[in-house]
Amino acid sequence: MRPFLLQFAAIFSVVSATLHVIQNKSTVTLSNDRLAAVWQKSVGQIIDLTLDGQDLLGQQSGSSGIGPYLDCYCIPSGFYTAGATTPEMQVVQGVDSGGTGYGGVILNDTYTPTGQQFQQYWFLRNGETGLHTFSRLSYHNETTPFLRNLQEFRTLFRPNTDLWTHLTSSELQTAPLPSKAAVKSQVMVQDATWTFNNTPSDAYYSQFSDYFTKYTFSNAWRNNSVHGLYADGSTSSGTTYGAWLVMNTKGPLHSDLTVDGIVYNYLVSNHHGEGTPNITTGFDRTFGPQYYLFNGGTGSESLEELRFEARSLANEEWNTAFYDSIAKHVVGYVPSGKRGNLEGTLKLPKDAVRPIAILTVNGFDFQDNSAVPDSHQYWADIASDGTFKIDRIKEGKYRLSVYAEGVFGDFTRDGIVVKANKKTVVHDTWKEESAGVEVWRLGIPDKSSGEFRHGNARDTTHPLQPPEYMIYWGAYDWTTDFPRGINYNIGTSDPAVDFNTVHWSVFGPTPNNSRAEYNTTYDWNINFSLDREQLHNRTTATLTVQLAGAKTASGNTDIDNVGERYTNLSLESFINDKEDPLTLNIGFDQSSSCIVRSAISCYQIRSRLPFPADWLHEGENQLRLHLPYNATDVETAVLPATVYVQYDALRLELE
Ligand SMILES: *[C@@H]1O[C@H](CO)[C@@H](O)[C@H](O)[C@H]1NC(C)=O
Ligand SMILES: *[C@@H]1O[C@H](CO)[C@@H](O)[C@H](O)[C@H]1NC(C)=O
Ligand SMILES: *[C@@H]1O[C@H](CO)[C@@H](O)[C@H](O)[C@H]1NC(C)=O
Ligand SMILES: *[C@@H]1O[C@H](CO)[C@@H](O)[C@H](O)[C@H]1NC(C)=O
Ligand SMILES: *[C@@H]1O[C@H](CO)[C@@H](O)[C@H](O)[C@H]1NC(C)=O
Ligand SMILES: *[C@@H]1O[C@H](CO)[C@@H](O)[C@H](O)[C@H]1NC(C)=O
Ligand SMILES: *[C@@H]1O[C@H](CO)[C@@H](O)[C@H](O)[C@H]1NC(C)=O
Ligand SMILES: *[C@@H]1O[C@H](CO)[C@@H](O)[C@H](O)[C@H]1NC(C)=O
Ligand SMILES: *[C@@H]1O[C@H](CO)[C@@H](O)[C@H](O)[C@H]1NC(C)=O
Ligand SMILES: *[C@@H]1O[C@H](CO)[C@@H](O)[C@H](O)[C@H]1NC(C)=O
Ligand SMILES: *[C@@H]1O[C@H](CO)[C@@H](O)[C@H](O)[C@H]1NC(C)=O
Repeated sequence: MRPFLLQFAAIFSVVSATLHVIQNKSTVTLSNDRLAAVWQKSVGQIIDLTLDGQDLLGQQSGSSGIGPYLDCYCIPSGFYTAGATTPEMQVVQGVDSGGTGYGGVILNDTYTPTGQQFQQYWFLRNGETGLHTFSRLSYHNETTPFLRNLQEFRTLFRPNTDLWTHLTSSELQTAPLPSKAAVKSQVMVQDATWTFNNTPSDAYYSQFSDYFTKYTFSNAWRNNSVHGLYADGSTSSGTTYGAWLVMNTKGPLHSDLTVDGIVYNYLVSNHHGEGTPNITTGFDRTFGPQYYLFNGGTGSESLEELRFEARSLANEEWNTAFYDSIAKHVVGYVPSGKRGNLEGTLKLPKDAVRPIAILTVNGFDFQDNSAVPDSHQYWADIASDGTFKIDRIKEGKYRLSVYAEGVFGDFTRDGIVVKANKKTVVHDTWKEESAGVEVWRLGIPDKSSGEFRHGNARDTTHPLQPPEYMIYWGAYDWTTDFPRGINYNIGTSDPAVDFNTVHWSVFGPTPNNSRAEYNTTYDWNINFSLDREQLHNRTTATLTVQLAGAKTASGNTDIDNVGERYTNLSLESFINDKEDPLTLNIGFDQSSSCIVRSAISCYQIRSRLPFPADWLHEGENQLRLHLPYNATDVETAVLPATVYVQYDALRLELE
């Protein structure tokens, strides 16, 4: 494959014209024969971007009509836009190892009150219509060694033009952009969530949903290869365009914002309960490469056609020779010579569906990779024969984690050493955890609560039928759905109807219903029957509870707020008439703002809870899942104050 690629690149450099770099005191312009970007040096931002002469950004107005640009939630007071303090611009130019010309613009900026250093890199290559980006933050300050957490770090393509008509982050999440008129008379129903019911003819409102929130288009990284904006030609003389973020370097279980009119490139955030690294002296992290692709411009290609082109680049092997060529300009980028690969064969449990292998920092749960700020993360799908391969791994020592839909628990193995230019080989067996004979399971262990009511089920009230969980939670009324609460019978109840995606302590109020519901929410009943044979000669029963997310009084913050009663939260399971519960403790640092930000898969929490088998008896038995009554916290934003959990799956075993 490689000689062909080189040859291909060589042909390309012949047909494409040269790369132009023009600068004066106030701007830098980088262009090839199709794409042109203009940076304003005084702020370190792209203020003009054109494809074949078509303006993709529109007029600059404050922080709109610019980008891709870098910002963060990371200075002591919160938000900061790189370039705002001491912007220094540097321009580089060269020819890569394949003979293709490139130009690069590098912004250096120091936020002087703390000494935090920001760098943003943009590269344009001949023959391509996109920008390769890297983003860096470093902090060296011995007098204030601990600064704060890096709560958000992202780049944004933020147009201010009616060119763009649609937003998309997957086939299911594709919708017309709300009209200006709809936005003008929108009504807020929750933090960053609105209804357009004042403009019933708006295309988003009539085709997709009554509600709009940026979280509707958020996505799990495992499923997200590209996302972006589409111009259907209605405001550009019939010519269509696409603006995409091509993702090739991030892995599960992270989920985050993608597009809401802005095309985001989220590098770090605490959305959906993700961990964030601390900024302590010595912190120095470069994120990237990421690629913003601008395509179309040649005719009337459909959104799907432009997405397909973008998706073909979402592959960690794409352009690696180019990245090696520009590595000399990018502080902290690890070139191929310092990377190795991993090949594995894992004997899988027989019910494993969509197994995945993840490499993260040694010794920690893969969800806690941010505990070590310079740790990296890689992942690959595992084939049905148990083989997998991960390439381009930075040399180091890792934990290998594997999980699969249909299987309780994860496989983990520490101490996987990857050496530069070497192949590490792993052979192992994943034996599914067991505590005897499985009596029943409720739900699919897949790290998601989507199989339950108002989860993955499609919303048939709108023609585009988005999955219900993506819509604002307040679109569904608990008391209508479950007038007598949850009374589930193992064997006869339907998980998609009789078990809700969210177990609320309190439901509501919602915009349509000012009455909060306290009584039918906090206790859920599950009935199951056991026969004599199942109980014969059994001494220990084990209840496994897996949560796909839980919100305590800590929300997304991981802060142990001593003023709050439910910063740590107990989910209690009562078996029959036993007074002592089996308790799953949810820590303040395991909390996620999950369903209220349109998610069914957040920070995962699990526990195996053994109890004496003689708590069970022949005939009907009952499990009561209990959250404290009226358990709320103080919310500073317009968000429900209640705590809640979202079940992944439950099971009962006997031995
Ligand atoms: C610099 O170049 C830009 C883009 O060509 C132009 O708009 C601007 O007027 C120039 N500024 C100066 C000071 O020459
Ligand atoms: C930007 O910072 C990098 C690394 O700290 C340094 O090598 C480079 O010279 C700086 N460039 C400018 C224009 O300040
Ligand atoms: C280190 O941080 C302190 C407090 O934020 C600040 O006063 C000081 O200027 C910083 N030092 C440097 C070298 O930036
Ligand atoms: C990802 O996509 C797969 C296949 O389309 C789907 O089954 C799964 O539910 C999705 N997972 C998430 C977390 O979105
Ligand atoms: C960040 O620092 C805080 C305060 O020292 C600490 O409680 C927390 O555990 C740290 N978080 C991580 C991810 O290291
Ligand atoms: C809430 O009210 C709006 C209009 O008043 C209506 O369109 C919507 O269907 C109602 N939602 C629910 C869940 O009842
Ligand atoms: C579940 O069992 C309890 C106690 O045996 C009983 O009162 C209740 O009616 C049962 N619920 C259902 C839905 O069968
Ligand atoms: C339900 O909860 C409300 C508020 O706590 C209370 O006033 C009411 O009496 C309860 N209703 C029932 C039937 O328990
Ligand atoms: C009961 O179980 C024990 C250990 O699990 C086993 O050794 C014994 O043979 C069993 N007895 C009967 C009667 O099945
Ligand atoms: C929450 O749990 C942690 C760990 O067990 C404990 O240190 C902390 O004091 C608890 N916080 C509150 C507010 O009870
Ligand atoms: C719920 O708790 C709040 C205080 O946290 C209290 O003001 C309110 O009266 C309680 N409501 C019910 C129905 O118990």
